[in-house]
Order: sequence, then C-alpha cells, then structure tokens
Amino acid sequence: MNDTALRLNRLRWDELAGMHGEDSVYRASAVVAGESSLGPIETDLLGDVRGVRILHLQCHIGLDTISLARLGAEVTGVDFSETAVEKARAFAAAAGVAADFVVADAQDLPESLANRFDIVFASHGVFHWIADADAWMRGVARCLAPGGRLVVVDFHNLYLMLGSADPIRLDLPYATRKPLVVDAPNDYATGQSLSRSKGIWSMRSPVQIANTAITAGLSVRQIAENFSHHHRGKDFMEHDGREYRVTADGVALPITFTLIAERTR
Ligand SMILES: C[S@@+](CC[C@H](N)C(=O)[O-])C[C@H]1O[C@@H](n2cnc3c(N)ncnc32)[C@H](O)[C@@H]1O
Repeated sequence: MNDTALRLNRLRWDELAGMHGEDSVYRASAVVAGESSLGPIETDLLGDVRGVRILHLQCHIGLDTISLARLGAEVTGVDFSETAVEKARAFAAAAGVAADFVVADAQDLPESLANRFDIVFASHGVFHWIADADAWMRGVARCLAPGGRLVVVDFHNLYLMLGSADPIRLDLPYATRKPLVVDAPNDYATGQSLSRSKGIWSMRSPVQIANTAITAGLSVRQIAENFSHHHRGKDFMEHDGREYRVTADGVALPITFTLIAERTR
C-alpha cells in the first residue's frame, strides 16, 4: 500500500505544486521580494537560526525554506515532488537566497543527509501524507546531529476530521490503521479543480506521533495544541485579528499541534 500511496500522492502533489505560487495561501512574489512566510508559532519554536543547519522536510515550493535561509540558516529542503523542488529552486534563485533542495521520499531519506543537521523542521501538512510515520521518524533521528532537535508544526487530526464546524460534521476517522483514500477534488490554495482528486491519507493523533518520535529514540521535549496563523482550506476558519480559530458548538478546537523532540545521543 505504501508504494501505491506514494505514487498517487506524488502525482497529486506534482499537480498542486504546478498550481501554487501566486495565490492567497502562498503569495510567492511577496516572499521572493523579502516577506517571510513563517508564522510566529514557527519562529518562536525555531529560535535564533543564524548559522543553524536546518533540514526542511516536505518543503513544497520552498517558501519557508527561503524564509529560513534569509534568517541566516543553512537550509536543505526535501520534497518528493520534482515539480515542487523545481519551483523551489527557481524561487530561491529569484530571491537571491542560497538553499539546497533534494528530491526524496521523507520516509526514505538519503544517507548523504545523515548526522548533519541541528534542526529538522516540517510544517502545515506533514503526517497525514505519510503512510509509515515510524520510517519518517527514524530518518529524522538519523539526519539530526547529536543534540539536534525535531521541530514540527502540523495540522491536528481533529481539525483534519472536520467537514463542517456548525453543525459539527466529522468526515474522517480520528486515527487509521491503514491509509485511507480521501477525495478532495479542489486545490486548497487556488480553489481550482484537480485531475488528481484522490489522496492517500493516514490519520494520527499528536500523541501517536509523539510516540513514533520516542520509538525512534528521540526525547520529546514539548508537545502543544494551538490555533493557527495560516489559512489553509477550510472556509469555517475565523480570524480573530491575531490568528485563525475554529469553533464548533461554542467550543474552540485546536487547528495545529507542535512537537519538539531531541536526539540526545
Ligand atoms: C502541504 S505541503 C507542506 C507545506 C509546506 N510546509 C509549506 O508550508 O509550504 C505538503 C508537502 O509534502 C510533500 N510530501 C508529501 N508526501 C511526501 C513524502 N512521502 N516525501 C516527501 N515529501 C512529501 C508534498 O509534495 C508537499 O509539497
């Protein structure tokens, strides 16, 4: 199943990456011109990145990678979509920013990346695309230098489940034993319809993801549930002047979770 999931998801992401850039989610021209695409949740967790070696997993079209490089980090972005990586390289060149990009499956990272990084960073659309989270975490543990940290800001499974907030409708299970076919016919950034409408998702709770980090030998330092600074996809997200929130039946639900885990030896 993992091979099928990988193939179908890669085709879908090639199509999405081809569409992304000049849209309200990515705003590539603004980032190329100097704006940062990173929100305060990410920058607070990452801290001062000057001279820090960062592996940016699932970097998509490279806008966060470029923003990190501008803050002084030495960044390598990884994505399995060649289309995404081609765009990322073109945006980095247009921005005059030095960053390396590698095309690779995040569940099977190349040996050339091993033991090299102070931080592995991944955000906003990571784990539900990953059929084998244990392989993903083992790769992270291998690529971190001793003392290095994994920093994740990803969508909470509760948020991914929600089809509607008022009334509450849950379209997906809380967690899956096997990957699941999800039909999402429109691009979350441009609204355009996709020829590759199906994606293969794996649903996991933040606790399950933290456990995969522990199983891979990492020490979990922090885990939290948060709102979000980014609008991605769901029209029932509301902006309160500072951040996006989702309220269902009067109760505010988490949109993202954050995880910090360290390679101690
Ligand atoms: C929602 S995007 C991540 C967004 C990105 N962090 C950003 O802020 O622009 C998800 C990315 O994960 C990549 N991806 C999905 N599965 C992957 C895998 N197995 N290996 C590497 N990249 C993968 C997709 O190509 C896509 O670029």
